[in-house]
Amino acid sequence: MRLDKFLADMGFGTRKEIKKALKKNPVLIDGRPIKDGSYPVDEDTIVYIDDQPISYIKYEYYLLNKPQGYVCAITDNRYPVVMDLIESWRHDLVPVGRLDLDTEGALLITNDGDLNHRLLSPKHHVQKKYYVEVEKPLPANAGDQFSQPMDLGDFVTQPAVFEAIDDTRAYLTITEGKFHQVKRMFEAIGCPVTYLRRESFSILTLEDLETGQYRALTANEIELLQNQ
Ligand code: URA
Repeated sequence: MRLDKFLADMGFGTRKEIKKALKKNPVLIDGRPIKDGSYPVDEDTIVYIDDQPISYIKYEYYLLNKPQGYVCAITDNRYPVVMDLIESWRHDLVPVGRLDLDTEGALLITNDGDLNHRLLSPKHHVQKKYYVEVEKPLPANAGDQFSQPMDLGDFVTQPAVFEAIDDTRAYLTITEGKFHQVKRMFEAIGCPVTYLRRESFSILTLEDLETGQYRALTANEIELLQNQ
């Protein structure tokens, strides 16, 4: 890649700004001063700016605890988007999958397109655990109903794991991600959802991440996700 792309990706400004800055203040690569933004570098190049070594970070991975009122998109005309909550200069970060506007919880955000694709592929059966509150008391056989395929009209669900907390609160773990799936499954047993939060996505769990907060994934988490 070009040196100006390397530096732009690492947050040193736009390519235009970098071109100007290089003229005034050349960087050092392999001990040589470089002024030209088109100079070829690669992901292993170390670029020195004012004696500070800069290495290239190709992918970023964040776990966000999505708040209600945010859309899982890059831009939206009506609502704020989850990307507004992430402070990064990268323009290629995207949410992995979607949570509804009024759903909270675990959302992976990355620019690793291969991982994104793999985690969303139905072949991979990524587990997603939801905390659910409902309007009416849950039937005693809710677990049995969810463990069987449910015909929701446009698709039939895979077996899901239900854990009751009390008669209006429960956890449901699914391995699919169809549109409004959890809400539709509870609706189908006569219990409309009043509150929904995703507790975990694959190996990523919210733990003490506050609503609206995010953190970078650890190297171990990234490796585990990649080996899913
Ligand atoms: N299922 C839903 O109904 N909504 C979500 O946001 C996620 C899963």
